[in-house]
Amino acid sequence: MPQSNLTDAPAFQALIQHFAEAKEWQMRTLFSQQSDRFNRFSIETAGLLLDYSKNRLNEKTMDLLFQLARECDLESKRSAMFSGEKINTTENRAVLHTALRLPRGASLVVDGQDVVPEVHAVLDHIKAFSDRVRSGQWTGCTGQAITDIVNIGIGGSDLGPEMTCRALRPFVHPRLTMHFVSNVDGHDLDAVLAKVPSESTLFIIASKTFTTRETMMNAQSARSWFLQAHAEPDLPRHFVAVSTNTEAVRSFGIDTENMFPFWDWVGGRYSVWSAIGLPLALAIGFEGFSEFLAGAHAMDQHFQTAPLEKNMPVILGLIGIWYRNFFGSSSLSIAPYHQDLSQFPAYLQQLDMESNGKRVTAAGQPVSTATCPIVWGDVGTNGQHAYFQLLHQGTDVTPVDFIAALKAAHDLEGHHMVLLANCFAQSEAFMRGKTAEEVRVEMRAQQIPDEKIESLLPHRVFPGNRPSNTILMDKLAPSTLGALIALYEHKTFVQGVIWGINSFDQWGVELGKVLAKNIEAELTGAAHPDAHDGSTNGLIARAKISLSE
Ligand code: F6P
Repeated sequence: MPQSNLTDAPAFQALIQHFAEAKEWQMRTLFSQQSDRFNRFSIETAGLLLDYSKNRLNEKTMDLLFQLARECDLESKRSAMFSGEKINTTENRAVLHTALRLPRGASLVVDGQDVVPEVHAVLDHIKAFSDRVRSGQWTGCTGQAITDIVNIGIGGSDLGPEMTCRALRPFVHPRLTMHFVSNVDGHDLDAVLAKVPSESTLFIIASKTFTTRETMMNAQSARSWFLQAHAEPDLPRHFVAVSTNTEAVRSFGIDTENMFPFWDWVGGRYSVWSAIGLPLALAIGFEGFSEFLAGAHAMDQHFQTAPLEKNMPVILGLIGIWYRNFFGSSSLSIAPYHQDLSQFPAYLQQLDMESNGKRVTAAGQPVSTATCPIVWGDVGTNGQHAYFQLLHQGTDVTPVDFIAALKAAHDLEGHHMVLLANCFAQSEAFMRGKTAEEVRVEMRAQQIPDEKIESLLPHRVFPGNRPSNTILMDKLAPSTLGALIALYEHKTFVQGVIWGINSFDQWGVELGKVLAKNIEAELTGAAHPDAHDGSTNGLIARAKISLSE
């Protein structure tokens, strides 16, 4: 039912009624009433297990949420995405990151053309190039094998490659050190240039548009730095590009033979599967990169074919809707219990918040409910010693996604058991909390006087009943990482469909870009003292005083 207002959907109304009762439920009670709650509310696919039993929901909640998904036409919208319909309506584009992980020999015709052979032609180019760099056959201008790779890009042209290279650190070629420069703040590039030898460094200029100010500025500065030590004809051995803009790549001076193209139907934040993933292919090798794509493809097939009731991204997405639109949770914390996933929360911030941080529907009407929560987080156990205090005892209920690998990629004794124990303990603590009576018993056992117990009691009680999901994988490897990212991509899609928004444009980033251009001209040239509001004029004037000293 393509409803104009989500709140008018019958299932949404039924969920409002249901919530009146559900908001009082205690998860401790739900667990004591259902000893098989883990079996009922967990699902395993594509190398991932999702335990969603520690949530404030029951079968009826899920049934109503599935009904809501059907009333929002999730199944037909899912088909529209996979088949290449132009669901990004404000940019008149298809959304086909899933085509990037289709196996060779598959077929997907868009605008009269099968895109799969093109995808695999680029993959073949990536394979040939990454094989040559990794084997040492591709050398720098003095004949040395490449030792350092610097990816220059921002947003989707940085976060995906950087996050995945970090996540798969144990698989990285021992000769190669990967660097990522994204910020226009020169401290970023400067710090990397200070570390890398120009004669054995390969720069990848990654930009879908090849016009992004930050990336172009960093690319030009890297180019000038290189030319201080080497000659112009040496550039092609040290600079390659990933882009959709051949002309701009050529005029930068990069040999278009060494340009890795992709297509307008790949959104920036969905592009790690395209040539934007070149740093990952270089780092872990093409075979590993293929496993990464295959892991995502396994999740695609699951998302595409499993009934909603047994569909991991659908379940994860709908649980998010339950907390955002009924409990009013305004943020979602991501807690990977894996140091190598340290960038995963930042990656999900772009994926989720740039996709679903929207206030109008795809039809341009104001949305009738809240949309994307703030996504944030850090690795466990570090977060436990920082912000988990608020998660346990603060005034807001913040759902948490725990992510862990059951096997470690190191053999340091004991560490991994302590890590996993902490991960499981935190979700248990969020769910159970600690009652006043439990605190009293514990303190009495420590011989603490009753008076002191009563004064400390309010501080030591944990309300509990705080929800979380736990996602487990056997080990963090290319295929499980691929499946994990695809899980969250499809979760984002599911939520965008429920909210009725276009998850695939990002007009909200434009205004600041335009204003920055004007201000840049004023900072470096003539100031227009009245061009802005009083605050901005004041800041520009004050900056100019320091800049002129
Ligand atoms: O400004 C936002 C954005 O357009 C992102 O969506 C994108 O990932 C990033 O900038 C980088 O864009 P490009 O790859 O074109 O340089």
